[in-house]
Amino acid sequence: MLLPFFEWCENTAIGETIRNSLWLFPVIEAVHLLALCLLGGSLLVVDLRMLGVGLKGQRISQVAGYARPFLIGSIVTLVCTGLLLFLSEAVKCYYNTSFWVKITTLPIALLLTFAVRDRFSLRKSFETSAMSRLLGAGSLTLWFVVAAAGRWIGFS
Ligand code: HEM
Repeated sequence: MLLPFFEWCENTAIGETIRNSLWLFPVIEAVHLLALCLLGGSLLVVDLRMLGVGLKGQRISQVAGYARPFLIGSIVTLVCTGLLLFLSEAVKCYYNTSFWVKITTLPIALLLTFAVRDRFSLRKSFETSAMSRLLGAGSLTLWFVVAAAGRWIGFS
């Protein structure tokens, strides 16, 4: 049912231009990877703090506040570059299990990050607790699955 849509995506002018270029895909994927590094860093400082590891001199809300612009910037960059990569090889992604794992886990990770984790971590009174550890561990696990599945697309 979805295959005609994926075929349409792959045959867009953008998809074709990236596919026919020698350097566009690797350059876009390099930006995708750099954004991944920024995402990893901005998640880790807050999630480790919520797990009670590192930066104990600052409140969770302070660390979360500093990291938030980098978190949002990296996710916007990942989604934009990811869509370009996807358009260039949409049919390959359609038959790729790792792509479906990634694209199913991504909305869950985004929901947890912006609907739950944000609500707690930005609260001034929020301190290391069973809830903060659960949030930190859950966030790291979900985003690890998204990144690992993204990496595996290229291997499979
Ligand atoms: C927002 C979170 C995202 C993360 C953490 C992420 C992570 C990754 C990683 C780690 C890779 C492997 C790069 C490499 O090592 O060469 C990758 C590749 C890729 N990602 Fe993403 N990505 C994200 C969003 C997206 C989105 C929204 C899409 C498309 C709708 C997407 C589509 C792709 C594609 C098509 C590849 C290339 C696979 C290949 O090498 O053929 N990504 N991503």
